[in-house]
Amino acid sequence: MKQTEFKRRRKHLLNHIGKGNIALIASASMCARNSDVDYPFRQNSDFYYLTGFNEPEALAVFVPGRTEGEYLLFCRKYDKKKALWEGAHAGLEGALSLYDADTAHAIDEVDELLPKLLENKTKVFYPMGRDTELDQRLQNWFHLIRNQSRTGVEAPSEIVSLEHQLHEMRLFKSTNEIKLMRHAAEVSAIAHSKAMQSCKAGRYEYQVEADIVHHFMDNGLRAVAYPSIVASGKNACTLHYTENTGLLKEGDLLLIDAGAECDHYAADITRTFPISGKFSEPQKQLYQLVLDAQTAALAQIKPGIPWNKAHEASVEVITEGLIALGLLKGKLKKLIKDEKYKQFYMHRIGHWLGMDVHDVGAYKVTQEWRLLEKGMVLTVEPGLYIPADCKEVEKKWRGIGIRIEDDVLITAEGHEILTAGVPKTISEIEALMQDTNATRI
Ligand code: GLY
Ligand code: MN
Ligand code: MN
Repeated sequence: MKQTEFKRRRKHLLNHIGKGNIALIASASMCARNSDVDYPFRQNSDFYYLTGFNEPEALAVFVPGRTEGEYLLFCRKYDKKKALWEGAHAGLEGALSLYDADTAHAIDEVDELLPKLLENKTKVFYPMGRDTELDQRLQNWFHLIRNQSRTGVEAPSEIVSLEHQLHEMRLFKSTNEIKLMRHAAEVSAIAHSKAMQSCKAGRYEYQVEADIVHHFMDNGLRAVAYPSIVASGKNACTLHYTENTGLLKEGDLLLIDAGAECDHYAADITRTFPISGKFSEPQKQLYQLVLDAQTAALAQIKPGIPWNKAHEASVEVITEGLIALGLLKGKLKKLIKDEKYKQFYMHRIGHWLGMDVHDVGAYKVTQEWRLLEKGMVLTVEPGLYIPADCKEVEKKWRGIGIRIEDDVLITAEGHEILTAGVPKTISEIEALMQDTNATRI
């Protein structure tokens, strides 16, 4: 992402904050795994969205109208020894020259400088309650200012959330963001197609996971957007199964929910396919039902349509299908009203997608489901999960878990499926898996 885009975002936000106010946004912190080893660092999405700065121990401060500069970046000073052991970091000079900060300060100076910046401001835009250590420091800075009230300075009178505005901005993707999401989606789609080709009975779920992650990394996408789910047979009925230790068995389905991250933007794809390469009759019936539900949901998706419409369409198709297959008994309307489908379809149709896999942005506006608009990206992912111990249904259905998930961009005319590259009809999947001469993607 180019600096010009981060700059544009900051300008927008500075306008929202308004003169006389101040905003503080902290980076993510390193998290220790044990002795000298940390968990891989992932920047806080809000912080990265505004700064493009990918280091821990940093604080961005926005002061609209400040003559010495409206954007201050507190970060680690350049340390030669640190560079030798841990690698490059921007330092204060880099904060100015590479990241366009108007002023850069060492993070160690934050306690000394922040009270001055907070003095006489009306509102502090700050995400209270997310970082207890920083919350405490903010309170201390307030105390320091209040203790000087005899000199005529005042502490801010309001702490306001910046998130509502910032998350509205993040909900609408720019051309550059869409480019990154498209790349994450395309690489992830090929990884899924490859997994269909490399899958066979006798392998382990983690070996398929390794194939997927290998493809991501081989294409320069070194992080997964979320822990991959590679769930065979009844494991697929556990929605967030990530053990991935099971043995692939002939006759079972394999559900894979995996997506790569490209420069902090996520892909999120699920496909379900038969390990043998051929669906059994009951698997085929349930699979087709989930696919029909997804088709019905997708048919709703265009600008001006309330977010919930796609979910309602999927619920109707799934409930109708479950009645036809004998998994639910009763009248369609009543079963929907009583939410009986939730026994087998217990999640919603999808979620916003962006820098976070379950991305930010409100789903309701003044209590009403919000209308879809151009530039939003969401997942469409109906599923059916028949628990292995579900005595109320015929044995042939038990232990089957199916989900089909695509990433969808709202366009001016309707929508575009960013993940359309992976097969999902029964015939396409069987053809890809059975054609031993198929060119490896
Ligand atoms: N991969 C998480 C989800 O589909 O929501
Ligand atoms: Mn998913
Ligand atoms: Mn999802």
